Amino acid sequence: MTDKATKAAIHVHNLNYAYPDGTVALEQVSFEIQKGESIALVGPNGAGKSTLILHLNGILHSNKSRGAVKILGEPIDPKKVHKMPRKIGIVFQDPDDMLFMPLLFDDVAFGPINLGFAKTEVNRRVKESLERVGLAGYETRVSHHLSGGEKKRAAIATVLSMNPEIIAMDEPTANLDPKSRAELIEILKGLKNEGKTLIIITHDVNAIPELAERVIVLNKTVVADGTTREVFADTEMLLAAGLEVPTIMQFFEVLQAFGYPCDVLPLSLEDAVRNLTQTIENGSGHVHLHIHKHTHSEVNSSRNKHQHHR
Ligand SMILES: Nc1ncnc2c1ncn2[C@@H]1O[C@H](COP(=O)(O)OP(=O)(O)O)[C@@H](O)[C@H]1O
Ligand SMILES: [Mg+2]
Repeated sequence: MTDKATKAAIHVHNLNYAYPDGTVALEQVSFEIQKGESIALVGPNGAGKSTLILHLNGILHSNKSRGAVKILGEPIDPKKVHKMPRKIGIVFQDPDDMLFMPLLFDDVAFGPINLGFAKTEVNRRVKESLERVGLAGYETRVSHHLSGGEKKRAAIATVLSMNPEIIAMDEPTANLDPKSRAELIEILKGLKNEGKTLIIITHDVNAIPELAERVIVLNKTVVADGTTREVFADTEMLLAAGLEVPTIMQFFEVLQAFGYPCDVLPLSLEDAVRNLTQTIENGSGHVHLHIHKHTHSEVNSSRNKHQHHR
């Protein structure tokens, strides 16, 4: 085993998995995630994303897949699956799968109590975890009465209270209103800045640039793995996998067709504002765009490039 493999947060090598009914979900999946990295895991519906993260803490495994997954350098011991949440916390897509106690305090305290912490430490962890997800003082709230956004954040708190080094989240921003989505993205950014290793399953391509520096594209097997910029640059691969690139990137391609000078397409709104400011400053306060003979056909071809055809 190489030194790098020993230290990797997540090491997956030739992982295969078929459900008992024969459905093949994962085929020869291999990748490695280092400590402190933040990864977006993308792929079309049915690509095996959820199946993959259920393997990371031993919820799913098969004789064939044994040994294919190492977390913090160690294979998952089937007899010690209950200890995995200390190393890696998994936030399921549906918060109702994680909130099952009468009061939110009990849900967030559940993990630390199982880990055997004393009462004062359990209380401290619950308080701190709720604060970190913006639910300070929610201890005595009834979990299943919380709003959709609050439930998502509460589900994250149930994982944070075990203080795992790695956190994997299954579509954390799905089905949220814009305000709740923005709040959730801020929480994820906070975790990233703290140095947690994050693996975020998402279809929310516009959120990826601020959350992840690397993107893994899964479609039963790993079809792409690179920096966010590299992966978003490969439009053909993304289209083939049924995915898309951030809207701002598509928009700057259209600007390019109008002659806007731009070597590197911005991935996020922040990037775009910086880019525009620079161009305006260089042009002493003006941006010059032109309509020439080819503009319309270039705009159309850049639009077609991102279109999903049936
Ligand atoms: N419990 C199950 N039994 C049989 N097939 C399943 C089960 N769960 C998921 N699958 C199948 O496994 C494949 C991968 O599913 P999943 O991991 O949920 O994909 P994703 O999360 O990327 O949408 C799909 O074809 C899905 O229908
Ligand atoms: Mg899924």
